[in-house]
Amino acid sequence: MKTSPIVFLLASALLLPAADSAAEPPVRLQIDLAAPGKAISRDLVGVFFEDLNYAADGGLYAELIQNRSFEYSATEQGEWGPFFGWELVKAAGGGGQLGLGDSRPVHPNNPHYLLLTVLEPGSGVGIANKGFDLIPVEAGRSCEASFWAYQAYMGRMWKDTDQSKSMPVTLQLQAKDGSVLAEARLEVAGRTWAKHSATLVPRRSDPEARFVLLAHAQGGLALDMVSLFPRDTFKGRANGLRRDLAQAIADIRPRFMRFPGGCLVHGSGVHRFYNWKDSVGPVEQRRAQRNLWGYHQTFGLGYFEFFQFCEDIGAKPLPVVSAGVCCQHAGHSPGRGQEGLPLDEMPAYIQDILDLIEWANGPVDSKWGAVRAAAGHPEPFGLKYLGVGNEDAITPTFKERFRMIFDALKARHPEIVVVGTSGPFHSGEDYDNGWAFVRELGVPMDDEHYYVPPQWFWDNLSRYERYDRASAKVYVGEYAAHDQPKDRNTLRSALAEAAGLTSFERNGDVVQFASYAPLLARRGHTQWHPDLIYFDTTAVYPTINYQVQRLFGNNAGDTLLPALLEGVPAGVRLTCSVVRDSASGDAIVKVVNGEDRALTVTIALAGVSAGKRRLVATILTGASADVANEDGQPPAALPVTDESRVGASFERVLPANSLTILRLR
Ligand code: AHR
Repeated sequence: MKTSPIVFLLASALLLPAADSAAEPPVRLQIDLAAPGKAISRDLVGVFFEDLNYAADGGLYAELIQNRSFEYSATEQGEWGPFFGWELVKAAGGGGQLGLGDSRPVHPNNPHYLLLTVLEPGSGVGIANKGFDLIPVEAGRSCEASFWAYQAYMGRMWKDTDQSKSMPVTLQLQAKDGSVLAEARLEVAGRTWAKHSATLVPRRSDPEARFVLLAHAQGGLALDMVSLFPRDTFKGRANGLRRDLAQAIADIRPRFMRFPGGCLVHGSGVHRFYNWKDSVGPVEQRRAQRNLWGYHQTFGLGYFEFFQFCEDIGAKPLPVVSAGVCCQHAGHSPGRGQEGLPLDEMPAYIQDILDLIEWANGPVDSKWGAVRAAAGHPEPFGLKYLGVGNEDAITPTFKERFRMIFDALKARHPEIVVVGTSGPFHSGEDYDNGWAFVRELGVPMDDEHYYVPPQWFWDNLSRYERYDRASAKVYVGEYAAHDQPKDRNTLRSALAEAAGLTSFERNGDVVQFASYAPLLARRGHTQWHPDLIYFDTTAVYPTINYQVQRLFGNNAGDTLLPALLEGVPAGVRLTCSVVRDSASGDAIVKVVNGEDRALTVTIALAGVSAGKRRLVATILTGASADVANEDGQPPAALPVTDESRVGASFERVLPANSLTILRLR
């Protein structure tokens, strides 16, 4: 994109306005708005969701109860067990105890349940849960409470209790001071599991409420799946998503969503891959388990919820499955090496992958299509892309299994676009071998990852210009600029990613998809920095990097227009892309100035009629490259918009450290 020194000198001679700016190069951007341009991906900007940093349970999944099914275990965290998050409540005069059951579970996939024994009812004996850190409730905002239960009689209770009587139960939302904010009364009768539910409408708001279930007669209860959801989940979905977080993701206007990981797909060993089948069907039948990132995943946010969310926000689903190997760092000793699924287990594993396609796209009378339909979605989800493998070491073990999966997919589902992998880095052995293997097999798309310093993006703006247009398309599946110190989400890092995105757009004939990683992080439970969106129980804290993703997602195009940026001296961090959005007819110019000083650019439009046209400019900048948006503080960098009318040639001042988006109507 840089012009020759001769062009630079000529341009300097013509445009130098004043002596004190003699040191500043005049920069000129020529754009041909009438050119047919080059078709580029319509789906460049998407999101990558991984349950890391409490992104699912305690995050996007709106469930407010922590450890609802008593499946927490010390295999997840040393101090955890089935009662984690729960406490025994004995209201005035009450006496009782807790036990753990496993002999008559709600479902074999959900083996443990709580046994509550009421010896002395007093004003109630039961259990309380404070959710993930705490449960925020708002006056008048309904919550849906539910639980599974049957009457259970432990020890002497069997003889001492009148079993013809049902067990009265109250469900309460209690404020921090113990006062009751909402209450519902129910009866549990009988010796078989049944689901009970009630709506709780808080009288007052309290950011630190707790949920309490009290039993009021001598006897006992078996309890499982004790659950509390806000009613106003995203799009009002049952078993739905936290509205504010889901909306923040939707606001990016992502064209695709990759899930469930990342490293998560590998699980913690060859027999512990993320199994999509464990994540569908009635929630009480899903097989909760340890998440690779060292905490508990209920699978309440499972494949059905992922696909439904994609549909709700207009994003193409892009699930990823393991390539039949675990991560080279899986298990309890990172780096101990990749392991492959035994070859005689591969046919069953491949069948699981084929079943996934049937579940997503198959007719309602197919085995797995019927499971989707039973969940309330008879129409196919329209799955088109499937990732196989994540950041794998490209070994013979990997290749053998990847090839088996790829061949089966090609034979049975040629309509599915398989996305391969080329290791964890932007270059190196696995990158080279991964790409060679993708080419050898004719895999249509490859997933590249890079977490790099901001300057890397500036130094690699022409990376994709060198890619073979006849070979596989590129999915930049995970990328982020890691700034120092402490991997903060600085403006510098966000602008480096913006610069990278302009290079993806310029090469949008090759780069089909790109997604920042990781997406979500709960404050206090964050294992990885930096992330795109931070949150806590009540608030969402978008980073400057998020603003970049949102601006690119909302200013996407489908045609690259010819643009020539002239007069940029070597080493100056200034780059751009120009696209047309056929739907609106708008031309969209994105210019990133990564310098600590403002630069002026003269924009010359060819192929336009005389007269003026409307220009909407959106600028993202801050006081310095070091600023970051801090939780609860006014944002240090937020996009601002202005409108003007411009002729065929006009000047724009690009503020120091800025992303400028110009929409020409
Ligand atoms: O995004 C976090 C992790 O980074 C992903 O799980 C993995 O693919 C990568 O190493």
